[in-house]
Amino acid sequence: MSYEPLVRCDGVARTYGTGANAVVALHGATCEIWAGDHTAITGPSGSGKSTLLHLIAGLETPTAGAITWPALGARAALRPGPVALVLQGPSLLPPLDVTENVALPLVLGGVDGDDANERALRALERFDLTDLARKLPEELSGGQAQRVAIARALAQEPRLLLADEPTGQLDHATGAAVVDVLLAAAIELGAALVVSTHDPDVAARFDHVWLATDGRITVLLSPDAPSEGQPCSA
Ligand SMILES: Nc1ncnc2c1ncn2[C@@H]1O[C@H](COP(=O)(O)OP(=O)(O)OP(=O)(O)O)[C@@H](O)[C@H]1O
Ligand SMILES: [Mg+2]
Repeated sequence: MSYEPLVRCDGVARTYGTGANAVVALHGATCEIWAGDHTAITGPSGSGKSTLLHLIAGLETPTAGAITWPALGARAALRPGPVALVLQGPSLLPPLDVTENVALPLVLGGVDGDDANERALRALERFDLTDLARKLPEELSGGQAQRVAIARALAQEPRLLLADEPTGQLDHATGAAVVDVLLAAAIELGAALVVSTHDPDVAARFDHVWLATDGRITVLLSPDAPSEGQPCSA
């Protein structure tokens, strides 16, 4: 294991809008993610889960505090690269078929077209999605599209895999199977996995559980410091 964390958040805050319209989505989160960590972020709607995931992915920048990726490199090199993020909403590109969607980040990252295609098909097989390989996104159900987006992230073999509500559109059994695949893939890759979830059964599968409440992050469960309710935010 690296002696540096993959991600270090130091008083990271995010405010959207200004003046009377300002919404503080995240208040000063201080936390680290290490290789091999399996973390669930849980909490009510609007509590800042997606905001924190977007900041960790380098998709957004903090309005206060600092976020660094000591073991991964500079923000500009995270994606495509060592970080893969599955967004909460639809994210497949409509004109590309399922295989092309899964292969695209690999191609953008410099993988040769045939290799990218092969890796895409392997990732689809892992999620039992081979039958959908040549379908267009508009031909998929919400749950199928969600699983394709997860397969796309896994195909990149990231060192940090972030998934925003990966079971949100799935029935309980399919959701549990998707979590099985995510955890198994993270272990196989030695990657860190961070998911957000509303589902207590999903959160219970993770060894780190963080609770988001009105933009404040606290640790509910940690193998390092098992005391409940410890603040993770400054
Ligand atoms: N782009 C944006 N512009 C303005 N406000 C935003 C934006 N993104 C998020 N917010 C606000 O920030 C707060 C946190 O939103 P966020 O999406 O992080 O919550 P969440 O915990 O992921 O919710 P959910 O469980 O519904 O996905 C909410 O009040 C939301 O309205
Ligand atoms: Mg969200």
